Amino acid sequence: MRNFNEENITGAVLAAVRQGSSSRDRQVSEAVVRHLHAFVQELRPTQDEWRKAIDFLTETGKYCSATRQEFILLSDALGVSMLVDAINHNNDEGSTPTTVLGPFYYDASELMPLGSNIANTPSGDLMHVEGRVRRANGEPIQGAVVEVWHADHDGFYDVQLCEGHDLLDRRAAFRTDDSGRFWFRSRVPLHYPIPADGPVGRMLETQGRHPNRPAHVHFMITAADCEQLVTHVFLEGDPYLDSDVVFGVKDGLIVKLVDHAAGETRDGHLLECAMAVLHYDFVLADG
Ligand code: BEZ
Ligand code: FE
Repeated sequence: MRNFNEENITGAVLAAVRQGSSSRDRQVSEAVVRHLHAFVQELRPTQDEWRKAIDFLTETGKYCSATRQEFILLSDALGVSMLVDAINHNNDEGSTPTTVLGPFYYDASELMPLGSNIANTPSGDLMHVEGRVRRANGEPIQGAVVEVWHADHDGFYDVQLCEGHDLLDRRAAFRTDDSGRFWFRSRVPLHYPIPADGPVGRMLETQGRHPNRPAHVHFMITAADCEQLVTHVFLEGDPYLDSDVVFGVKDGLIVKLVDHAAGETRDGHLLECAMAVLHYDFVLADG
């Protein structure tokens, strides 16, 4: 193995990486080599351009911390996260459409009593959120764990505002009742920019793109014998629904936030004063 040039190096590297033990590992290594070599052949970078590409990835790694995942952001902003999502979910059985997890989830939400207020800071209008969780055959799911998280009215998630995971704000988990219902109080979220002060932000600028996501509430729903659902509910009328920086919007996930008078909601919960109501029913695919 010597004297490689543009014509023979790709074949030599492919032969070298075929020695791995698992066939999936070999498939992955071969695809990386084929696509990476084709990318370089197409672009014919100068040495300086290649160093800048390596610097970009190095900086992306350096931006990662306990509260920031710049590589997920990169995957999201290049539409790769939604491509992986599309490959893995077809919603054939009428289950709720899926979308990106995003970088602000963490597995630490407290189980709270149904009806709790999850907004510990006062920005944004009051919002009542309610809905039901069902199986594809229509049966309500009792005891499903509904994890929710969303940004505040200034566009920040709690993890961005404090060290570690000390202050839960607009983030919680609930268990559905015996009719599959969940409900809680929060504050209306606004559209917000993804963190754009790092390498991904610079990339967006170079590409002439804005960094915004339309207003949404994240849901992760887990129940026995069902596929875990990772999705968001988007608010109708948001100016960024058609240009979400991470390509995450699907028609079936957009709902109208309704101005509701004091009184009983569709799911039978009592509002003590007028407020916005977000109602969404989820369908989990069979596991
Ligand atoms: C989010 O909605 O939290 C999010 C998703 C992808 C990238 C950045 C933020
Ligand atoms: Fe989000």
